[in-house]
Amino acid sequence: MQSHVKPFFHAPTGTWSYVVSDAASREAAVIDPVLDYDWRSGRTGTASADAVLRHLEADGLRLRWILETHAHADHLSAAPYIRDRAGGLIAIGAGIRQVQATFKRIFGLGDEFVPDGRQFDRLLGDGETVDLGALRGRVMATPGHTSDSVSYLFGDALFVGDTVFMPDGGSARCDFPGGDAAELFRSVQRLYALPATTRVYVCHDYSPGGRPPECQTTIEAQRAANIHIKADTPEADFVALRVARDATLDVPNLIIPSVQVNIRAGRLPPVEADGVSYLKVPLNVLGRPLS
Ligand SMILES: [Fe+2]
Repeated sequence: MQSHVKPFFHAPTGTWSYVVSDAASREAAVIDPVLDYDWRSGRTGTASADAVLRHLEADGLRLRWILETHAHADHLSAAPYIRDRAGGLIAIGAGIRQVQATFKRIFGLGDEFVPDGRQFDRLLGDGETVDLGALRGRVMATPGHTSDSVSYLFGDALFVGDTVFMPDGGSARCDFPGGDAAELFRSVQRLYALPATTRVYVCHDYSPGGRPPECQTTIEAQRAANIHIKADTPEADFVALRVARDATLDVPNLIIPSVQVNIRAGRLPPVEADGVSYLKVPLNVLGRPLS
């Protein structure tokens, strides 16, 4: 069954969000919506999320799901903003509990933050379904980049989160806490076993070589041409490449605000006595020592 996919690009973070919908029922899911954030001022904004909401309204879509492919480390999620205005359930992979426990420790969060996934409306395991009318949405656990990473398959449209990027972009880093290159290799094998014509929608594109941002490829193209992991790439070669490359990467610009908000399903930390919500910065914990 064909699903309709509308992509939205967030240029400041190179993030692709999507609205996927079923033509017959007009039911829709929003995947990985972005809350704008200015790190200099600490201000959030909703222009990007409002564009998604306008699309839902203009196309007469009923929002059933707001799906995260994982707790992102590079942008804040607009999931609660969208749910408050258009309805739907916020869902993420069940591995979020491990991610929450890890980052509760890293950010020194108190008892108010319980790392059991309760902040989300639904936790999704491998093989569970997130249907839109008669259009079946299948959850595939695809850990490796993070332990909560999942992919969503609606008909022939596959939303892969941060597993693989466009073929000329390769694959996602595996050096965050809970990441594992060998696990990502196995996850990608599951994706590559899907039909060759499956449409693959990526979560990020950083315009390698200066080309315009792209969001869609196919399983066939990934198997043939992904610069990090082709159909016949040995696991050991991929892991060696991934580990070597990750050792050169800087911490993402927005990891500190993003993770603290996204493990709360996109809500800001509780306001303090002065009515203001604050983020924490753990000093000398993340990244490599300065040289
Ligand atoms: Fe990510």
